[in-house]
Amino acid sequence: MTAQRIYDTVANDFSRVNDLIMQRLASDVPMVEKIAQYIVDSGGKRLRPLLVLLTARATGYEGNDHLKLAAVIEFLHTATLLHDDVVDTSDLRRGKATANARWGNAPSVLVGDFLYSRAFQMMVELQSLPIMDVLSKATAVIAEGEVLQLVNVKNPGLTESQYMTVIHNKTAMLFEAAAHTGALLAHAPEPVARAMKEYGTHLGLAFQLVDDVLDYRGDAAAMGKNVGDDLAEGKVTLPLIQAMLNGDEATRLLIRKAIRQGGLDDLPAIVDIVEQSGALDYTLTKAREHADLARACLNSIAASAQRDALNDLTELAVARLG
Ligand code: IPE
Ligand code: IPE
Ligand code: MG
Ligand code: MG
Repeated sequence: MTAQRIYDTVANDFSRVNDLIMQRLASDVPMVEKIAQYIVDSGGKRLRPLLVLLTARATGYEGNDHLKLAAVIEFLHTATLLHDDVVDTSDLRRGKATANARWGNAPSVLVGDFLYSRAFQMMVELQSLPIMDVLSKATAVIAEGEVLQLVNVKNPGLTESQYMTVIHNKTAMLFEAAAHTGALLAHAPEPVARAMKEYGTHLGLAFQLVDDVLDYRGDAAAMGKNVGDDLAEGKVTLPLIQAMLNGDEATRLLIRKAIRQGGLDDLPAIVDIVEQSGALDYTLTKAREHADLARACLNSIAASAQRDALNDLTELAVARLG
């Protein structure tokens, strides 16, 4: 299984989505276009548009509106990244300086708003109320997830279940919406649409769990973002929650202090602790469980090359360690 094989399944559609994305970034205000192009040109894995293309075709869609839907979802994702990097005060994204590091917070927030709005303009063009329903709810839930996370910054008491709610809302929701709306576009029968929706949820949870492992174990060059960002922000993720549960009193105190303080002073010690305590393996095991649940959802749809690719994607989500 390789990432390339998955993308190859929808290679033609994929390049048309990229063209459409570039085309629809157009704005009469040069700064809007410049910043939007900057982040879009930086690449990104385009996982969510891939999900739209694959789920639409895997559930029998034969038209061309899946290209627009895929672009809409990537715009929504890109808008959340522009806002997220401001909130997280991140400097590096997709291997380049973040928009906020380059132009400041205000332009990043406003261009994020532009991308959200452009996504909704394009969504209206799809003329599907069921799709609008799913996507408008999803964007509200994503915002709630980011706020819920924000209010828990530097809170060492965050529980695993609260953490799961945060990642469900901030990340899994858009994966879910991508896979679900792909099936809605195809007018798939309700059980099939539901299976695709659940596939998206579990894939998204697996993806964010792995992302949170990579924040301690990853390689900045390969990820295109910095290692240790979560701890620096005082962001409590499953590796820290689990390390506190497993550790002795002194370990717990050290982690609690690091979370309350934020910053990178304790990073080397904390990296050792999360690794040695088995907290990263625990988090990866949870990610694999969700990847397996995602895979099981695929039994509800007919065999096809696209279904095989969706199956491979569940492996890729947990294998992207580097
Ligand atoms: C980043 O998502 C935000 C998270 C949910 C962790 P991706 O890792 O899919 O970002 P790009 O689009 O590939 O840069
Ligand atoms: C990503 O959250 C979720 C959204 C952008 C809504 P993170 O803050 O964990 O993602 P990275 O690490 O910045 O990509
Ligand atoms: Mg972030
Ligand atoms: Mg992260």
